[in-house]
Amino acid sequence: MTTDTVRIVEVGPRDGLQNEKALIATADKISLIEQLAATGLRSVEATAFVSPKWVPQMADAAEVYSGLAQRAGVDYPVLVPNLQGYERARAVGVREVAIFGAASEGFSKANINASIAESLERFAPVVEAAKHDGVAVRGYVSTVLGCPYQGAVPVADVVRVAKALHDMGCYEISLGDTIGVGTPRKAVAMLRAVASEVPINQLAVHFHDTYGQAVGNVAACLEAGVRVVDAAVSGTGGCPYAKGASGNVATEDIVYLLDGMGFAHGVDLDALMATGRWLSSLLGRDSMSKVNRARL
Ligand code: HMG
Ligand code: MG
Repeated sequence: MTTDTVRIVEVGPRDGLQNEKALIATADKISLIEQLAATGLRSVEATAFVSPKWVPQMADAAEVYSGLAQRAGVDYPVLVPNLQGYERARAVGVREVAIFGAASEGFSKANINASIAESLERFAPVVEAAKHDGVAVRGYVSTVLGCPYQGAVPVADVVRVAKALHDMGCYEISLGDTIGVGTPRKAVAMLRAVASEVPINQLAVHFHDTYGQAVGNVAACLEAGVRVVDAAVSGTGGCPYAKGASGNVATEDIVYLLDGMGFAHGVDLDALMATGRWLSSLLGRDSMSKVNRARL
């Protein structure tokens, strides 16, 4: 990857939909993923093989994944919280999974019912199995700039968990501001601290926009050298186990930002906006993408 190219990891079909109370039809989820992949996005997080008791919206993960017409050159990672999830994902031929930990104990317990140490023990056999099967593993660290349960999160805790996931074998670590409380200088300080232990070209940023800081945070992290950005079309998203976690930064707004900053990204903004409008009408609400609203 040259320094002027940014890879967007589209998380709308997973992070964007997981918090929706009304069940969305499997066919609509598949259509969303296929539309997104057709815009030029190279990585579309498709679903989550988590416990359906915890996240009912993701109960159809296997049907969604197996129903997809996959495009050559596009990755379709899925979340797996444990070996059970990994095995369900493998049964339908998944080639990339993401494990997800946290930098704060309270969120780790609320989200995956494990302490941070327990979660790392739980992830190790998943990564081992994935290595054996030739499946790529991405790692998330949540609550990197604040936790809904403990408030401030020491940067050293973020560095420790990110390094542990990297040492385990994750090819990329996505740093998640789960509740969207970060601001640019704090985000960059956190990123630089993690980059002292994990090469920056193996880091991604994942901002929620609760306090309206997400685009600013992404811009600052791009200036600081990160080249992978998570985003969700139409600014959907949130985590059912993080009160106050509103939508992800909107992919349309990130594409506009990247164009303005002169980064290559390979995404067709008009096609992406059309998909965002389709999703907004499906969900029966206005788009959270400023760019999409400006161009209506
Ligand atoms: P637990 O209750 O401790 O698990 O939950 P358990 O092992 O005791 O199993 C309980 C039941 O769930 C059993 O069923 C298992 O079979 C079943 P029962 O015997 O009662 O009928 N089960 C499963 N079923 C299907 N697939 C599985 C699975 N695992 C267990 N994989 C567990 C622990 C981790 C499973 C649960 O807490 C869980 O699924 N959590 C996921 C929560 C979640 O999806 N959160 C949102 C994603 S994270 C996020 O949004 C943040 C991120 O975007 C970054 C950021 O913004 O910061 C990534
Ligand atoms: Mg998220």
